[in-house]
Order: sequence, then structure tokens, then C-alpha cells
Amino acid sequence: MWETILSGIFAFVPALVANSLAVVFGGGSPMDLGREIGGKRILGDGKTWRGFIGGGASAGLIGLLLTLTPLSLYSSLWIPFALSYGSMTGDLLGSLVKRRGGWERGENVPVLDQYDFVLGAFLISIICYPAWTLETYFSGHGYVTLAMLLVAVPALHRGVNIIGYRMGLKKEPW
Ligand code: CTP
Ligand code: MG
Repeated sequence: MWETILSGIFAFVPALVANSLAVVFGGGSPMDLGREIGGKRILGDGKTWRGFIGGGASAGLIGLLLTLTPLSLYSSLWIPFALSYGSMTGDLLGSLVKRRGGWERGENVPVLDQYDFVLGAFLISIICYPAWTLETYFSGHGYVTLAMLLVAVPALHRGVNIIGYRMGLKKEPW
């Protein structure tokens, strides 16, 4: 049982690190090209193509590296990329919601900031790899894996962001 749970947690690493890696690659033209709707930016300057593509690709590659461990993680080697790009997409949707709600770029919105990418990762993963996703996170021991992930995510997210902030990569420590 513990090996199954540990595998499920390791398998989710691409979703967990994608946003932090986006900070490293970020810059250049914003995805919304500066456009506004109703006097508010669509996504804001914090969402760039370089961050989206670079964060998703590098986090997916980290997932591939993890397959070199003895844990059995994925039924397809594209799954880490579904998780990493799903995570980046969830982060985009989170910013969309933040801008509509009137929150400025970088403003801290509890719950939304910590779970938008988790939701995005599960959504894309379940659409692209339903059997694997259901078996790993939504059945039997998978529910224990899911519960552990959901409890650990805010702490992990905060930890990684503090590291990024100390390294001078991130403007805010959240
Ligand atoms: N980033 C990026 N492109 C993305 C996601 C993130 O370039 N698609 C980079 C940006 O430099 C961004 C940083 O990663 O500032 C931190 O990401 P995040 O905290 O998600 O963005 P915020 O700047 O806080 O903006 P928002 O309020 O929209 O979340
Ligand atoms: Mg932020």
C-alpha cells in the first residue's frame, strides 16, 4: 500500500514544480498581449508564453527523470507532461479569476493560489489519461494519496515559493 501511495505522490511532482519553474523561464510578451476586458487585464503580466511553455516542459522532464527510480509511476511517458501543462493551465485559469475579481498581479489569494494548479493538473490528466488518473488518485488507496497531496500542497507551495523568493527569482514569498 505505501509503495502505491508514494508512487502516486512522486507521479504528481511535475504538477507541483511546474509553476515554480515558470518563474525561471518567465519574461517577454504576456499571453494576453496586454489586453483588457472591462478595464481589467485578462491574465496580467505574470502570465507569459515563455513561462507557460518552459515551466510545462521542464516539469514534464523532471517527471521523466523520476521514472528512473524503482517506483512505477506512469502508464505512458506523456502523463508527466499532461500533469505539468495541466498545472500551468490551472494557474492561468486562477489568474483569469483573480483579474475578474479585481485582484492585482501578485496579490495573494488564499485557496485559489494554492489549488488552481492542482485542479488544472487533475482535469487535464483525467481528460487525457482517465484510466491512470482514476486508478492513481480516485479509487481505493488512490484516495489516501489524493488526501495526502491535498493536505501537503499548501505547505509545499509555500516552501517552494520562499526558496524562489530567497533566490531572487520571485517578487513575493507566496
Ligand atoms: N510566470 C510566467 N508565466 C506563467 C506563469 C508564471 O512567466 N504562465 C512567472 C511570472 O514571472 C510570474 C511568476 O512566474 O510573476 C510567478 O507566478 P505566479 O505567482 O503564478 O504569478 P503572479 O505574478 O503572482 O501573478 P498572478 O496574480 O496572476 O498569480
Ligand atoms: Mg503569485
